[in-house]
Amino acid sequence: MQVRDKVMDGKSLAERLKSSLREEVLSLRRKGIVPTLAVILVGRDPSSIKYVESKKKDCSEIGIKSIDIRIPEGTPKREILERIKELNSEEKVHGILVQLPVPGVDEKDVIREISPDKDVDGLSPYNMGKLMIGDYSLRESLIPCTPKGVMILLKEYGVEIKGKHAVVINRSNLVGKPLQKLLLDEDATVTICHSKTVNIEEITRMGDIVVSAVGRRPKFHIGSEMLKDGVVAVDIGMSFLEGKLMGDFDFEEVLEKVSKITPMPGGVGPMTRYSLLENTVIATKINEGII
Ligand code: GUN
Repeated sequence: MQVRDKVMDGKSLAERLKSSLREEVLSLRRKGIVPTLAVILVGRDPSSIKYVESKKKDCSEIGIKSIDIRIPEGTPKREILERIKELNSEEKVHGILVQLPVPGVDEKDVIREISPDKDVDGLSPYNMGKLMIGDYSLRESLIPCTPKGVMILLKEYGVEIKGKHAVVINRSNLVGKPLQKLLLDEDATVTICHSKTVNIEEITRMGDIVVSAVGRRPKFHIGSEMLKDGVVAVDIGMSFLEGKLMGDFDFEEVLEKVSKITPMPGGVGPMTRYSLLENTVIATKINEGII
């Protein structure tokens, strides 16, 4: 099998999906509805700034209006929550995203405040609860962006999930927990691994699908010896090593073992970014009473 037949190209898939979403945004705009996302950034963390800038750029590319809200670090939590409350009741705002982490504030306190109908990250207790009880649809509900992007990618590339053993290395609310549920609902057997897992390689070797979102190179990386033949590898981990962006998998080395793999960059990242746009359109339709 050629290398290019193994690579799941999230970048070109996201571009394709963005074109059709752009049409949907246009048709909403023709009805006088301007999908609008408020992005809140607290503090000046350089990677958070970069994330927020790229989210704004993605929005403008497809006609979503974004509102950039910057709050200085050290602002009392009460004031941050007050700002969210105002946005909750602002009719023209359809989606609210608070870039995480919020320095000095427990993110649960922030997320709880966002109206579930505007929660484009899908992280609020209500939306997470709906995911847990199976009251959702992947493309019409507010599901966390990275797990949603991974599921769309796997489906588009025809990866069989039913009955397969999926090993997810991550247990966060943003990635591992929602992804576990989405894979389970596609009839996978799912194992979650994390930093305290003993003999992790014994578990990853059982995986038909291995998803890794660690981002702690050089301490943690996945080589061939940790994988079984024919595995589908999904790489979400990001580390900067000697100025180079790298994923959790040793890409060149594991190529011979995998049947499919996402590259880094150009794999899951663009799908996460796409999912935020799709979630903003979903939130717009929910708030405008269209769905
Ligand atoms: N920080 C890192 N990833 C994310 C994300 O997907 N959403 C938010 N709000 N903050 C993040």
